[in-house]
Amino acid sequence: MMVALNLRAADSPREHLSLDANWKFHLGDDWPSALHLDKAGASGGPAAEKFNDVAWRTVDLPHDWAIELPFDSSSDKNHGFKPVGPGYPKNSLGWYRRTLELPAEDSGKRIWLTFDGVFRDATVWVNGWLVRRHEGGYYPFREDITDLVKFGGKNTIAVRVDATKFEGWFYEGAGIYRHVWLDKTAPVAITPDGVFVYSEFSNNVPQSSCNLHFQTRVKNSLTNAQLVVVEYTVYGPGGSTSKENNLLFYKEKNTVSASSELEIPSVVQFDKELTSFEYGISKNLDFWSPESPKLYKLITTVSIEGKIVDQKETMFGIRTVGFDKDKGFLLNGKPYELYGTCNHQDMSGVGAALPDAVQDFRVKRLKEFGCNAIRTSHNPPTPELLDACDRLGMLIMDESRLLGSDSENLRKWEDQIRRDRNHPSVAIWSVANEEFAVQSTPQAGNVARTMQNLVKSLDPTRPVTYAAPQGDTFDGINGVIEVRGWNYHPGGDMDKYHAEHPDQPNVGTEQASTVCTRGIYADDKEHGYVSAYDIRGTQTAERWWGYFADRPWLSGGFIWTGFDYRGEPTPYGWPCISSHFGVLDTCGFPKDNFYYYQAWWTTNIVLHLLPHWNWAGKEGQEIRVDALSNCEEVELFLNGQSLGRQPMKRNSKLSWQVKYAPGTLSAKGYNGGKLVAEQKVETTGEAAAIQLTPDRSTINADGTDVSVITVAIADAQGRVVPTAANKINFSLEGAGKIIGVGNGDPSCHEPDTFIAQPPVKALPVNTWRWKLAKLPAKGALMPEYAPDFADGDWNTIKAKADDNGGMVLQEGEAGVFRAHFNLTEADLANPGVQVRFGSIDDHGWIFVNNQRVGESSDWSAQPVYDIKKTLHSGDNVIAVGVRNDSGTGGLEPAVNVELVGQPMAVGWSRSIFNGLAQVMVQATKDAGEIKLTASAEGLPPVTTTITTQSGPLRPSVP
Ligand code: GAL
Repeated sequence: MMVALNLRAADSPREHLSLDANWKFHLGDDWPSALHLDKAGASGGPAAEKFNDVAWRTVDLPHDWAIELPFDSSSDKNHGFKPVGPGYPKNSLGWYRRTLELPAEDSGKRIWLTFDGVFRDATVWVNGWLVRRHEGGYYPFREDITDLVKFGGKNTIAVRVDATKFEGWFYEGAGIYRHVWLDKTAPVAITPDGVFVYSEFSNNVPQSSCNLHFQTRVKNSLTNAQLVVVEYTVYGPGGSTSKENNLLFYKEKNTVSASSELEIPSVVQFDKELTSFEYGISKNLDFWSPESPKLYKLITTVSIEGKIVDQKETMFGIRTVGFDKDKGFLLNGKPYELYGTCNHQDMSGVGAALPDAVQDFRVKRLKEFGCNAIRTSHNPPTPELLDACDRLGMLIMDESRLLGSDSENLRKWEDQIRRDRNHPSVAIWSVANEEFAVQSTPQAGNVARTMQNLVKSLDPTRPVTYAAPQGDTFDGINGVIEVRGWNYHPGGDMDKYHAEHPDQPNVGTEQASTVCTRGIYADDKEHGYVSAYDIRGTQTAERWWGYFADRPWLSGGFIWTGFDYRGEPTPYGWPCISSHFGVLDTCGFPKDNFYYYQAWWTTNIVLHLLPHWNWAGKEGQEIRVDALSNCEEVELFLNGQSLGRQPMKRNSKLSWQVKYAPGTLSAKGYNGGKLVAEQKVETTGEAAAIQLTPDRSTINADGTDVSVITVAIADAQGRVVPTAANKINFSLEGAGKIIGVGNGDPSCHEPDTFIAQPPVKALPVNTWRWKLAKLPAKGALMPEYAPDFADGDWNTIKAKADDNGGMVLQEGEAGVFRAHFNLTEADLANPGVQVRFGSIDDHGWIFVNNQRVGESSDWSAQPVYDIKKTLHSGDNVIAVGVRNDSGTGGLEPAVNVELVGQPMAVGWSRSIFNGLAQVMVQATKDAGEIKLTASAEGLPPVTTTITTQSGPLRPSVP
């Protein structure tokens, strides 16, 4: 019975390998002809195996090139004024390439390539073969590439990423901004995302006994049927796979037909009352919740004739979720208020390309003010966010990108559900957000019903909602959706709707849209800042939360937003480049509202005062002082003098008008007349020191882990100076690198990232000779291409770089164009040498010193070819055979030989915003120390040390 304990993962042929490191990257659409798909396996440009990418930059994934671009006031406001997307074709097309070896011993295995998310449309080639065209920026996609790979040899993956079109109305990044994976399996194996495990309790209320459902989808790629044995071993929370921790073992046999897939379902009763039951050892069940995120581990093993062919680990939780029309959201059978935030995948310093450690950082920050749920607005999340939420305790509303029941959208929706349905954090599915154009139509109702039905067929455990911006409309989606979602409208609409549709449960899918800038206490249109008092309009924290807190049937809701994000600057545009809806700014620094929510969403005793108390020049003027607190009474003092004690109403805040005098503003909080909290805000002195505070001072030496370091400016007494704006320079020594800087200023145009760009020196090749010629087929060599061919009597083209004087061929004509250029030994010492053409119209075959370097078949392209290997010092000769099919054609003599140098070292810097800035440091794979030094004019430099410790490395492709 306990055979399973003897099975080791090492026995399984499955390997799940990261493919994140060491990609080559090029920004620009220099090879549009690569998309000409006239013949299989014969795509050109970087899609071709033989393409030389030596001059390209090396990047690790996740990577977002949009964050690297400068801000530009003429570009799209909602996308954060980055010159990418519509209108910026040069910045919107990126190429990634990577090679990898597959050992000969892998022959016979299945090889899968998985992309967790690419913004946006991706075209993927393996060894020159097109393997996938994937539209959209948020859904995962994968391919079985076994047919195309070479075992015992080098394989090339090329990805063309096309971000010329937007999908959302917020910053979306650009590039391969999520992970890429390579999976190897036996020919009979569990399909990707092919394991589903869930618990079922009667009445959806946890008790001592449950049914554990297992579903495993097995794919048989062999040409004969296979009798497979699927075994399930469940281990209890605590992570160990010891015998004592083994709670359940269960086995199922089934035959999978040749070349097909089979879903194998099993149900096992899991019952603590049974002490010697058939399937294993009994234990009390540990239910998962945000407060106690207990995870079980399932090992699914597939074997054939006693030999393991696959083994897969799945973390899961035992818990129930549901909605009640009167009591709202239920977790583990009990009413549970959703203290939620909506969030985009965007962070200071790194844009959309969040390292996994930063997911943890963000979830922890949200939990600090009591947030227990995230809505992944408005797209499927990256799986690592869900992992972080499973481990750290955070519920998820898992949202699709678009409403649609076309086959493509349903396939993507199914992929999302299959991928995410084991995560205990995922509590609710959302079919879409604010589909204004259609939401009240019968067609939208039909589509939502189809999407909802698909959820029910793939996941019987979770409810479904739609983030609806309408008030009391029941037409269309609202009438068919299981849980009514409310975007805004706290007030009469909700009560009316609830009275008219009392059987439909409700949830606040999106609320507040509060606008506040951290540390700013007056609206400032010129700089794009908004006062953090949170008194603007009706969308205040107090307004929505007060309303929701009084109505249990509303289930709580999700604030727009937890973190500030790039784009949607509101209410002002440029120079403001990011939103300020967050409870936290783009770095995760708390705004004052953080304490409002902490007061009413946690059981901590909270007492916070705003604003800061550095108002030199405003002596004697009245300043509004607010206390954010959950104490029953709060008394305010200025320099020891009481300014009055006020009772706190639940879910509200307190205010005083105070005549400014420098010194100490302090408060005392009382419960039942007893002093329970004290708080003070002091007028600080001048900036005197830099403080560096890492969120973690020991990180893993795994090449991915990150420490997020707070940079503060303090006065001589160590108090943060709330108005400081010093420019900080950073330098780093040791086992790490800086990956991003930020400061939470929504109007800051300083770079978040500093790229070591290689210097490029262009040597113009202006003097060309040409003559009409019959070109050999297939771009073969001809004597006229040879360096020493006598071309003295050929026609000459003397032209400036922008001249089209080389358009000398009539329709149907062909010719050869030749030019000489001179290179020194020093020129050849550059890491890369390439030639860049203006236009070759229509077809060109390019030779340097009689060696073919490439072919061009798009007259509108400005093709670039690596020529380093063909060169020698002294005289070199370029020869291009050109065939013109229509109109006039030829070769534009705007040609440059480019010397690509070593990337230069860069200096990282960032200004402090209202006392604070942030720098992110990532470990290399070397255990040791990272020493980060911060310096600023007039202040002593300071160094912090982060230890990087060796530990398990994520299995990855070298
Ligand atoms: C909502 C929308 C969000 C965001 C927000 C700004 O209507 O769903 O994505 O745009 O408005 O207030």
